[in-house]
Order: sequence, then structure tokens, then C-alpha cells
Amino acid sequence: MGTDQRRPLPLLLDCDPGHDDAVAILLALGSPEVRLLGITTCFGNCAVEDATRNAQRVLALAGRADVPVAVGASGPLVGTTALGNYVHGVSGLDGPELPEPLAPPVNEDAVAFLRRRLVEAEEPVTLVVTGPMTNAGRLLRDHPEVAARIDAVVFMGGSTERGNHTPTAEFNTYADPEALDIVLRAGVPVRMVGLNLTHQALATPAVVERMRAIESDVGRTCAAWMGFFGDSYHRIWEFDAPPVHDPCTIAALVDPEVIAWRDAFVAVELDGTWTRGTTVVDLYRRYPDRAPNAAVALDLDADRYWDLVIGALHRLGGTP
Ligand code: BDR
Ligand code: CA
Repeated sequence: MGTDQRRPLPLLLDCDPGHDDAVAILLALGSPEVRLLGITTCFGNCAVEDATRNAQRVLALAGRADVPVAVGASGPLVGTTALGNYVHGVSGLDGPELPEPLAPPVNEDAVAFLRRRLVEAEEPVTLVVTGPMTNAGRLLRDHPEVAARIDAVVFMGGSTERGNHTPTAEFNTYADPEALDIVLRAGVPVRMVGLNLTHQALATPAVVERMRAIESDVGRTCAAWMGFFGDSYHRIWEFDAPPVHDPCTIAALVDPEVIAWRDAFVAVELDGTWTRGTTVVDLYRRYPDRAPNAAVALDLDADRYWDLVIGALHRLGGTP
């Protein structure tokens, strides 16, 4: 069966918007191949209250009042709360003005919301996580029976190489390694989209120009977000163009050919003096007794990726 005959893939997005989370939301909304059943929020790039408001305002930018938003964790399962405002600004989504939320959050916390949507769904649902793993970890710790209702957990986090928040740990996996550990052991299919992949998703000047050329509020806003995000990446990590991490997870669902994967054993360091939150990815079976427990994203077709993102932004239109 050709891809165009597939039913839209149902998904739930757990996120901490965040400039790249915001583009991930827009990619999901603008892609007919997927159906966004709801958004849950988490601390991460900013406090959870700000992440929630940012998610609501991104939905408002796209004119979508029909996607429910549920508020999630304000801190990790264990340890202190790490925040990414140093990358994403005071609000967590600094840059252009955004419209006010069209609807309040639902009257259910993220874990209760995720559980209910999974149980009520007619088919298994894909859970995409683009922030710390806290909500998903809680869900699978407290309601392990819902694992059978999850088609896969696709998460942005970790790396096969080095980190960003610390020299070895990526921000999302650093922010709640215990929660990721629960998910890795829960018996659900896991797909890891780490920095080794997302650093191939650079919003070059040519990409930003394509966003701006859409000539809609959505396009102009994305271009301006890339300006703020790019300045952070230049200041902190000396990048010439910002890596737009989180939409890579959605892109993998929209177009299965956009990323090449390899099955591998993945673990997360919980105890290291310097390496807490670091993912250990056994690409070459150096631990022969550890069977692969995840599909790990390795190569991105960047041209195809940006075509997907720009196409979705076009579809969302907005006020010219
Ligand atoms: C991850 O951390 C956040 O800054 C981004 O939103 C992304 O999810 C990259 O390390
Ligand atoms: Ca994120």
C-alpha cells in the first residue's frame, strides 16, 4: 500500500516549547499523514506554566482551538530541575509576539490525559516526546498496562556522540534520566532521535528565507524564531545555523524515508560523577549480552526534511 493510502497516524505530543518544539507542533498540524490527538507539557526549556502557555499560543498561531493541551510535570522524578531558558529566552519562546491562547488547558493533568486518550483510542497511538521524559516515565511507572496501547515512543534526546547541556549529556536526557530509564525498560518500542541526528537539521539562511517567503504569520514567525534560536546557538555552541531538533521526530512519522535507523541497546547514565543523563548507545554490539532495545536515528535526508517542514507551514497558511 502506498504512503498516500495510509490512514493518518494518531499521535500525542509531549513537549516543552521551546522554539524547535513549536516548529514540531506546526509540522504535526500541517501534515495530513499524522493526526495530533493532544499536547501535554513539561518543564524543560522553561517552567511548565510557560511551556503550556507557549503550546497554547502556537496552536492559536495555527488557528487551532480543537487540540487539547494538558499540563504536566514541573520537575523531574529525582533531583533538581534543569531549565533551558539560557537557550530559549525568558518566556521559553522568545522572539515575535504570539496570539493569545484560544482555549484553556484541559481539566486533567498530563498523565491522566495521556492514559485516557491511549485507553480510549481505537488503535495504538504513537507518543512523541520532545522534552524531558517525566510525563511518559510517570505514565509507564504508574499505569504499566498502557504500554500495549502505545505504538512507539519516539523521543528527541540523548546522542550517539557528545552532549550539549553538559559535555556528554543532551538536555532532555539530562533533565530526567530516571524517567527515560523507566521508558527504556517498559517494553514499548522506543525510537531515539538524538543530537547526532538533529545536528543534521540546520536552519541555514536558505531555509529561513524559505520560511519567510511563505508570507504568512506562520512563516514569518518561524523565520523570526530561527533568528532568536540561531543567536543562542551561535553564542553558546558556536554554530553558524541552529539545529532544529524536535521536528525530526514528527518528520520520521510523516515520511518514513527521511531518517535512516539502526537497532541498538540504549541505556542512560544515572550515577556518573560527570556523566549523569548521558545516553550510552551500543551501535557496534560491544555489549553482546545486551539486546537492542531501541531504534536509533543515524542519518537525516536534510533536503527532504526541510521540504516536509516548509510544506506543512505552507499548508497552515495564516494571515498573509
Ligand atoms: C533539546 O533541548 C531543547 O533545547 C530543545 O527543545 C530540544 O528538545 C535539544 O537538546
Ligand atoms: Ca524540546
